[in-house]
Amino acid sequence: MKTLLVIWHTRTGGTEQMVQAAIDGARACGETKLLCKQAPEVQPGDLLHADAYLFAAPENLGSLSGLMKDFFDRCYYPVLDHINGRPYALMVCAGSDGLGAVRQMQRICTGWRLREVAPALVIHTKAQTARDILAPKRIDLADLERCMQRGAALAAGLSAGVF
Ligand SMILES: Cc1cc2nc3c(=O)[nH]c(=O)nc-3n(C[C@H](O)[C@H](O)[C@H](O)COP(=O)(O)O)c2cc1C
Repeated sequence: MKTLLVIWHTRTGGTEQMVQAAIDGARACGETKLLCKQAPEVQPGDLLHADAYLFAAPENLGSLSGLMKDFFDRCYYPVLDHINGRPYALMVCAGSDGLGAVRQMQRICTGWRLREVAPALVIHTKAQTARDILAPKRIDLADLERCMQRGAALAAGLSAGVF
């Protein structure tokens, strides 16, 4: 059975809900082993032992959140040239943009020679004021459904050998 490793970070809870929905979708597809780890817990060995990756993080100050970037910084060279060609997908939780975080992760994953097998999914919480930005987030049902479908598609493609 193939293993899908989900690596994520959240600051105000939005990304966590997106990840939970993606995992629910992936579980419904059955045939894939799921491992889910918060970015600070991930070690290079976790990447080596997985077959595919779902990276999920908030955008902060126009780029990837710091703890997610720290995960990539810690693990980049230890696994370089050992995970070439493996499939991945991205999810980003953002107030209004998100493309900085997407581009940053895509560049890192290109360096790893990973293959992006689904379009990056960016969910907007529409938080604009400092108060709203710092408040706990609630992702709406339609967006959670999109995350669920993304998880399901990844798991289905992985177990069917499409990727
Ligand atoms: C310090 C900080 C910086 C942020 N910078 C951006 C930004 O550059 N672009 C954007 O679209 N949203 C930005 N946001 C909003 C977050 O991306 C948004 O609140 C999102 O829901 C965070 O995801 P999370 O709930 O998983 O932490 C920022 C939030 C914080 C706390």
